[in-house]
Amino acid sequence: MKKKLLAIILLLTNLFMLQAQESLAEKTKRMQWFKDAKLGIFIHWGIYSVNGIDESWSFYNGYISYEDYMDQLNGFTAVNYHPEEWAELIKESGAKYAVLTAKHHDGVALWDTKLSDLNVVKKTPAGRDLVTPFVKALRKNRLKVGIYFSQLDWSHPDYPHFTRKENRYSNDSLRWNNFLKFRHDQLMELCKKFKPDLFWFDGDWDYNAEQWKSKEMSRDLRKCDPKVILNSRINGYGDYSTPEQGVPITKPADPWWELCMTMNDSWGYQGNDHNYKTPNQIIRIFTDVIGMGGNLLLDIGPKADGTIPDEQVAVLKELGRWTKKHSEAVYGTVAGLPPGHFNGPTALSKDHTILYLYLDNIPKGPVLIKGLKNEVNRIWVVGKGTKLDWKVMMKAYWSSVPGLLYIDVPEEVLDEQVTVIAVLLKGPAEVYRKDGQVIESN
Ligand code: GLC
Repeated sequence: MKKKLLAIILLLTNLFMLQAQESLAEKTKRMQWFKDAKLGIFIHWGIYSVNGIDESWSFYNGYISYEDYMDQLNGFTAVNYHPEEWAELIKESGAKYAVLTAKHHDGVALWDTKLSDLNVVKKTPAGRDLVTPFVKALRKNRLKVGIYFSQLDWSHPDYPHFTRKENRYSNDSLRWNNFLKFRHDQLMELCKKFKPDLFWFDGDWDYNAEQWKSKEMSRDLRKCDPKVILNSRINGYGDYSTPEQGVPITKPADPWWELCMTMNDSWGYQGNDHNYKTPNQIIRIFTDVIGMGGNLLLDIGPKADGTIPDEQVAVLKELGRWTKKHSEAVYGTVAGLPPGHFNGPTALSKDHTILYLYLDNIPKGPVLIKGLKNEVNRIWVVGKGTKLDWKVMMKAYWSSVPGLLYIDVPEEVLDEQVTVIAVLLKGPAEVYRKDGQVIESN
């Protein structure tokens, strides 16, 4: 009897594990375009660009009154909004997807929502749905569509929080459920109208998963579109992690992750903020992210008339030059070698037989890879094709510690930003991760 019970338990556990394995395989498949994409463009566009102030937070934190903040509705013209040009520029940058703030914490919808009058069609001189033509332009350029949606809505009469100092109510389940229904209906509207490839949620911090009904929300969205990707900011019910601003130092445990980052210090357009990172800094951060197997979601903040500031266009164009030249070392790559083998980020081709080295400095001598067990077939400069000479030194015949692989990189092959070197290996990359060996016989 006991044996039978044990057998049944074992069978059930196996079945359960098999199911879990299958769902991981399914997730891997569903997430594949995202994993391969490497670069996305985040777009914070909203009425906050009129005064050039912090998106939503400026009134929440009391830097401006709610009335004055909302007065910006009158200046949001979108007269020079050319979504096809946006999409072409995004494509030129080398990004494979874009995420547009359809609704930020201020509750102003950029599309013609039927569920609230607080939208740019009804309340601003723009007077039209701004999301539809953008989605169309992205699709035309074969870019994936991401919709940013703030779960919390500081303008909604049934959302408990209004500003940092003022709450509308606490503990009123009727009003809270009204709000949840509004959120649900707006999400369904977005899902049906735009069929986005990705929803980028934000603002889950006020409540827990149970209060937000996060499980039900993600279930409903996946029902609406089984292929949809959801970011993590839904209290643990999303598909991938979203570290913000700070580049991870160690490789994140989640196999799917995306660093979102501003070009200057603001998400939305702020004419006063000229603290831009240089294209060089951005590309170096990008290679760091690629080396750890992640994506970069780089933000732009268009002006109220729909133009993209010159500094941002310049960054996107230089990024585009670099990604185009180095596309084989960007798209579809996977995380590289663990730290300690090369002085800089590295990535691998999907089959692990090509090792990409990202060189962000001018070497004073040959560059070095340590602890690589594989023999090398060929080494070349990505985007140029120049073959490079290499030499293995210090390989003791009695030791299993691999030799030092030195690669000559002449100055004339260097890129203005980050040079990429491809090392074609015999077989998939294997590294030595131990602390050396002493001689036992010679
Ligand atoms: C933060 C901010 C928000 C911004 C977002 C982008 O969550 O609240 O203003 O849109 O980061 O990741």
